[in-house]
Parts: sequence; C-alpha cells; structure tokens
Amino acid sequence: MMSKVLFQKKQTIDYKLMMNVKKIACIGAGYVGGPTMSVIAQKNPGIIVTVVDLNQARIDAWNDSDLNNLPIYEPGLADVIEEARGRNLFFSTDVEKAIDEADMIFISVNTPTKTYGKGKGQAADLKFIELCARQIASVAQSDKIIVEKSTLPVRTADALKSILDNTGNGVNFHILSNPEFLAEGTAIPDLQSPDRVLIGGENRDAIEALVGIYEAWVPRERILTTNLWSSELSKLVANAFLAQRVSSINAISELCEVTGANVDEVARAVGTDSRIGPKFLKSSVGFGGSCFQKDILNLVYIARSYNLHAVANYWEQVILLNDHQKSRFAEKIIRDMYNTVNGKRIVFLGWAFKKDTNDTRESAAIYVADHLLSEEANIIIYDPKVTAEQIYRDLDYLGTRSSEENKRLVQVVEDPYEACKDAHAIAVLTEWDEFRTYDWKLIKEQMKRPSFVFDGRSVLDSSLMESLNFTYYKIGSDVNQK
Ligand code: NAD
Ligand code: UDX
Repeated sequence: MMSKVLFQKKQTIDYKLMMNVKKIACIGAGYVGGPTMSVIAQKNPGIIVTVVDLNQARIDAWNDSDLNNLPIYEPGLADVIEEARGRNLFFSTDVEKAIDEADMIFISVNTPTKTYGKGKGQAADLKFIELCARQIASVAQSDKIIVEKSTLPVRTADALKSILDNTGNGVNFHILSNPEFLAEGTAIPDLQSPDRVLIGGENRDAIEALVGIYEAWVPRERILTTNLWSSELSKLVANAFLAQRVSSINAISELCEVTGANVDEVARAVGTDSRIGPKFLKSSVGFGGSCFQKDILNLVYIARSYNLHAVANYWEQVILLNDHQKSRFAEKIIRDMYNTVNGKRIVFLGWAFKKDTNDTRESAAIYVADHLLSEEANIIIYDPKVTAEQIYRDLDYLGTRSSEENKRLVQVVEDPYEACKDAHAIAVLTEWDEFRTYDWKLIKEQMKRPSFVFDGRSVLDSSLMESLNFTYYKIGSDVNQK
C-alpha cells in the first residue's frame, strides 16, 4: 500500500518535471475563471497564474484594492484573493502576453445558448471558444497544454485541435477537458474540497501535468481521468441529472398542492432512502442560473443531431416543467389576488437565481416579474446583492416592453421594510437567509389587507406567518386550502 502511494507520488513528480508547468494562463475572468484560478494559485504558490479577459472593467474590479469591489460575490473568495493576488495570481487584459508565456492555458470563456442561425435557442454558441483557439494558435511559439474549462458540447476538442493545428506556428498542442463542477454561492468550498476533479485527455503526460496541479490539495482518488469525450459529456450529464431532480420535485409540488400533501415532507420521506439521497430535492419557483437550462438544451440539441429523438424529448421535459413552474407561480399570485394585479404593489424579495450570489442569469424572478408586469403590476424589488442596473438590464433584455415602461412599473430599493410598506403582496424569489429574520409583525402592520405572501422558496416559518394573519402560500403546500 505504502509503496503504491510512493510510486504514484514519484510518477507525478516526474511528469511535472517533464511538462514543466511554471506558468498558467486562463482566458476568461468570469464566475468560473476567477474563483477557479484563485484557488489553483492559492494551492500552488510556485506556479504563476494569470487570468486574462477582454473586459477591462472586469479586470479592474479583480485588481481593486477594496475587496468589496470584486466583480463577483462569493463567500470566502476575498480571503483567497487577498492571499494569492500579487504573489502568484495576476489579472490582466494582456491576453497575448499571457498566452505567450504560459505552459498551460485554461479556456474559461462563456458558451451561451445560440441566439441566431442553426441551432438557435438550443445549441451552444462556440464563437468565443473558437476566437480563443485562433488567438492561441497565432501567438504560441512553444508547446502548450490547452485545457477546456468551459462547458462544451461533446467532441469540441476535435474542433479545437483542428483549429490549433491548422492555424498554429508548428508547435504542439495537447488538449485536455477539465470541466468545472463548482456551484455559485459555494464556489470556494466546492473548489477547495471537490467531490471529484475530472480530467479527460489523450496524452498521458499532459493529463499527469494537470493531475499534478490538482494534487497539491485534492486527494488522488478524487481525481478521475477519462477519455476526452467522456469528460466533455459528463459535464452536460451531471447538470442534466441535477436539474432533473429539481424538476421532479417541482412536478410533485403541484400535485401536493391539490392533494393536501406537503412537498417538504414528501422530499424528506423520499430523500432518506439512501439510494435516492436528500440533496437537490428542494422545491422552488424554478431553477435558474447560467448552466442548467443552457446545458440541457445543448444535450437535447446533440441528441437530436444524432437522430436520438426519444432521448432529446426526455431531457427537454426537464426544461418544459421548469418553465411551467415559473409561470404557474405567477398565475397563482394573480389568481389569489382576485384575478387582477393591475396597479397593485407586489414586493419581490430576492432577484438572484439563488442565495449567496449576485448572479441573475436565468433567474426565475425575471420571468415571474415579466409575467406580472404584463398584467400591469407595480413591482418593488429588494435583493441584498443585485444592483438596480442589473435588474433593469435583465428585464430590458427580454424585450417584452420598452425600457421606459420597465422603469415606470419597477422600482428597486435598498431597504426591505421600506419596500413592504403599503404592499398588497410579497413574493419570495430567492432563499436569502436574512428573509427569515425580518420583523414580520412590523411588516404585516404596514401592509395592505389582506396581506399576501407567496413564498417561492419555502423559507419562511409558516406557523409564524399564519399566526400573524398573512394570507400565506408556500410552494408545494397550500396552507389556505386546509
Ligand atoms: P462569464 O460570462 O462569467 O465569464 C466569461 C468571461 O470570458 C467574460 O468575462 C468574457 O469577457 C470573457 N471572454 C469571452 N471571450 C473572450 C476572449 N476571446 N478573450 C478573453 N476573454 C473572453 O462565464 P462563466 O459563468 O464564468 O462560465 C464560463 C464557462 O464555464 C461556461 O462554459 C459555463 O457553462 C461554464 N461553467 C459555469 C459555471 C457557473 O457556475 N457559472 C459552473 C461550471 C461551468
Ligand atoms: C450548477 C451545478 O450545481 C454545478 O455543479 C455546475 O458547475 C453549475 O451549475 P449553479 O447553477 O451555480 O450550479 O447552482 P445550483 O446550486 O446547482 O442551483 C441551480 C438552481 O437550482 C438554482 O436556481 C437553485 O435555487 C435551484 N435549486 C437547486 C432548487 O430549486 N432546488 C434544489 O434542491 C437545488
């Protein structure tokens, strides 16, 4: 046993020497590139890690001496940045210099759903990936390991390799797939103690060079190595499985509401079966975030492109159910408020797609708000981390109504108590912890009557809400139906 461990360690050291990774570049300083590289730098003080981005404002924010101004909010991130930045972690807009100097280059740019042409609304848009590949090929004067950190359709490494080899300067490129499994809001603990690290590749030395970097803090048995295609596909599948659990419990939440069952109790009863497990069974107003919908749509598109229609239809249902959950929440608000919300003050507590992040991409709140605004509701929004500019940008992006109209109907506030004054209803859209601790008695006294609360996250204490005479609905158990 002992000799096996020693042997593995020795092998790693040999490979590291062989590949000699002294400098890492990461293209893309977003929600993945920033935190991931910060932890790699923190755990590998001997390696210089440079994170580059075209977005000057984002890089300036990463370099801001006031750690409150980092471009993304993640608990624990500021401490890691404080430790590593300026020591062996750097943020820059000089993409070419970083590429030129690096032995290993992570590509961590965005891969959104295509909004045009073939595959519009489903396929992943790989234009940013291709731009990176072309730039790397034109700049690189020495052999490089290229690591796919972005989530990509299966077989993208083929396209990358072709671009790199055909447009490069005759140097060697080894491509690895190393998808990221961090979840926002828990990115730092997820990175510091991952369930697994997945590395797919063909070249053994390149794989071991990357293994060596993770081995600085991740136990070897948690570092899985596979072929390229398994690694690329596993990322899409992992997200599809997680989202599927949320849609499954959300489907049951609607059934609970008409049968008198309670979805939290059902989730507990089901999740205590060790074969099923308790995680990702929290019913909600619908999943959001930049990944689940995009990656399932991509999986569906890939299956269809291989004529696997039954497979595609199966996974597409996860998205359709999620859309249904968002719109039925909005419909429930309208129905309970006597079928009209026109001119009524409805307070949204939360706008981010989940707690502990300022990210709003695909947040359920956006779609619920859009639905209610089409019924001429007045929406007052409070979120502890999301800016007013971001909220108006999210609504304007939908293009449902003019920007002026969104400004007329929506107000963003910084004080939740002020927001709730004279409100007809409160809707909880994000599960921020602070919502539980509010003075609900005071809020009730200042609201219009009846005082509706629509809890899309089941975060509030239902017995307290009932005792204060709120007309309280929480997803998956309609207490008013008893
Ligand atoms: P993001 O939009 O936050 O960041 C991407 C960054 O890449 C942007 O700052 C953009 O300016 C930059 N960029 C794009 N093209 C560039 C180029 N040619 N040169 C330099 N910079 C460029 O995206 P993200 O959330 O960090 O996601 C990145 C990838 O990781 C995606 O494929 C996503 O699916 C995947 N992923 C995301 C998460 C998550 O929780 N957000 C988790 C796992 C995987
Ligand atoms: C997800 C994956 O978890 C992560 O592994 C991957 O790398 C990126 O995509 P993220 O989108 O950041 O991470 O957050 P996650 O915690 O998965 O939540 C996604 C959405 O599902 C959120 O809107 C969340 O509120 C919702 N959700 C999650 C539920 O409604 N119920 C649950 O039980 C869990």
